[in-house]
Amino acid sequence: MNKYVLVTGGAGYIGSHTVVALHQKGYIPVIVDDLRNANPIVLEGMEHILGVRPILYKVDVCQKEALRQIFEQYSFDGVIHFAAYKAVGESVEKPLSYYENNLVGLLNILSLIDSFEVPNFVFSSSCTVYGEPKEIKEVTEQTPLQLPHSPYGFTKWMGEQIISDFHKSKGKYKLMNLRYFNPVGAHPSARIGEFPIGRPSNLLPFVTQTAIGKQEKLTIFGNDYPTKDGSCIRDYIHVTDLAEAHVAALTYLSNQAKGLLEAVNIGTGKGTSVLEIVKAFERITNISLPIEFGSRRLGDVVEIYANVQKGQDLLGWQARLSIDEAIEDAWAWEKYLATK
Ligand code: UFG
Repeated sequence: MNKYVLVTGGAGYIGSHTVVALHQKGYIPVIVDDLRNANPIVLEGMEHILGVRPILYKVDVCQKEALRQIFEQYSFDGVIHFAAYKAVGESVEKPLSYYENNLVGLLNILSLIDSFEVPNFVFSSSCTVYGEPKEIKEVTEQTPLQLPHSPYGFTKWMGEQIISDFHKSKGKYKLMNLRYFNPVGAHPSARIGEFPIGRPSNLLPFVTQTAIGKQEKLTIFGNDYPTKDGSCIRDYIHVTDLAEAHVAALTYLSNQAKGLLEAVNIGTGKGTSVLEIVKAFERITNISLPIEFGSRRLGDVVEIYANVQKGQDLLGWQARLSIDEAIEDAWAWEKYLATK
């Protein structure tokens, strides 16, 4: 029997790729997204890839009664909760919007999961909960969490805390925090991908937008860090690998007899510097990027990457695609957008 899965934020960047992955594995994703940060190109793209238009409700996750009506219509096997604001810098400017949207949305979802006894729940968490790793830059799920530097980071940290308290009070639910590292790339079909609103704050969209001429030049935020080439190091994971991690997480949860709460790192296990990304992009596309070195960006972590053992052991999941493939796919998507 096909299982219905509620995907909040399913029209967004990671959400849309996960909807595709779920559908292809035989689940029936039901998207709840008020489309405030979504683009019609992504909705068309999902339909093009899947051959059918995914079920979509244009509803804000902060509207509990509207959400309740959707829970009444389906017997959900699980919920994947993506819907949230995600820009670190913007969260400093608009903390109340971030706390309201990200936390009220989560509280509504958990309360409805409990009312309707939906057994499985996956939360979009972030490696931001680890803060700046102390000596060892490879973090495991046991690495102690640190207080974040931004309201955005706090919403993820508090989200995990809320889920932990929910678990302590209602032990029968199967709950998983996926701690994403840096999602990059696009679907290999180039029909869905990241759609930054306004000036991108993330590295790869800024690189592709510079290459296509939407941005004048790329500023590298800091070249005097204590790393191999002076630029910051991250664990960049292809978004389709990340999407598949959600399917693996749901499958794992469904197979468990008892309630549980687990956190799992979703990365590749490999650190790549900003300069390495720039060089790889130039090599792959044969385009020379206009770059400048700027000052350090406030609050940037110097170096972090995932220990991925738990994902392999628990979920039987690991990243398959390389950073080169992610860059190729991100570039194909940027070029596709230029035709629209
Ligand atoms: N960078 C530049 N120039 C740019 C954009 C980024 O040099 O124009 C650098 C940043 O300084 C950083 C690296 O590229 O060193 C990656 O920056 P991103 O903004 O792409 O990603 P972050 O690691 O800063 O942020 C990501 C997610 C956040 C999450 C955080 C957790 O976007 O949601 O990881 O560490 F909170």
